[in-house]
Amino acid sequence: MFNSPLTSVFFILLFALSPIYGTFEYMQLVLQWPTAFCHTTACTIIPTNFTIHGLWPDNVSTMLNYCEGRKNKYDSITDDKRKSDLYEHWPDLIIDKADCLDHQNFWEHEYNKHGTCCLPSYNQEQYFNLALALKDKFDLLTSLRSHGIIPGTQYTVQRINRTIKAVTQGYPNLSCTKGITMELLEIGICFDSRVKKVIDCPHPKTCKPFRNQAITFP
Ligand SMILES: *[C@@H]1O[C@H](CO)[C@@H](O)[C@H](O)[C@H]1NC(C)=O
Ligand SMILES: *[C@@H]1O[C@H](CO)[C@@H](O)[C@H](O)[C@H]1NC(C)=O
Ligand SMILES: *[C@@H]1O[C@H](CO)[C@@H](O)[C@H](O)[C@H]1NC(C)=O
Ligand SMILES: *[C@@H]1O[C@H](CO)[C@@H](O)[C@H](O)[C@H]1NC(C)=O
Repeated sequence: MFNSPLTSVFFILLFALSPIYGTFEYMQLVLQWPTAFCHTTACTIIPTNFTIHGLWPDNVSTMLNYCEGRKNKYDSITDDKRKSDLYEHWPDLIIDKADCLDHQNFWEHEYNKHGTCCLPSYNQEQYFNLALALKDKFDLLTSLRSHGIIPGTQYTVQRINRTIKAVTQGYPNLSCTKGITMELLEIGICFDSRVKKVIDCPHPKTCKPFRNQAITFP
């Protein structure tokens, strides 16, 4: 293939200029269902929509955490509009809004632990924009409702799993609260390394209720 120096230069350039994929193998958007979360922890607000827990770049065989070490890599967000947009979709449910916007501890934690693992493809601003854009790809609550899955009712894990697959095109990673009747707590939606298409989540966690009973979508 490299039969002339010019072609080799061409291929080397092509390779060097292609965007950097490969720091992570897939991206997981972890959504939480506030009603269930707030049954386990005292909350200041309980939104009636899914909210973001985090956006996690990972590899299939290893979880990527604190990719820039333990130093604080987070730059406080100063723009009021950005802060309130972020708060709408990614609120810290256990503290007051003012405190969340001032100290940004939840965003800082998620950024340092996970966001640093998709550098240099996504800088901090791009990371948070990506999270909001991915969440907005699906109005999961409305889609679940149109498939007959409505808050306040019980469903089998299989039904929830299959329905999310039908909505997003990928099997999710599910987690539930512990207890007599498990409650649906988190839904992870996984994307390929280019964050273009939904894939089945690798090694999904699931909820394993006693005797395969139904779980509650509270
Ligand atoms: C994660 O996967 C990418 C692509 O396969 C690889 O380049 C990178 O070294 C992996 N990171 C770790 C920590 O294993
Ligand atoms: C719930 O969140 C989704 C995704 O971000 C959004 O499309 C939808 O409008 C929200 N629904 C309500 C009632 O706010
Ligand atoms: C699945 O999601 C739960 C939290 O909802 C998380 O603890 C777990 O690490 C996730 N599993 C994978 C393989 O990402
Ligand atoms: C969803 O169903 C698929 C296909 O049967 C299975 O591989 C996967 O483990 C299930 N996921 C959960 C979260 O139950």
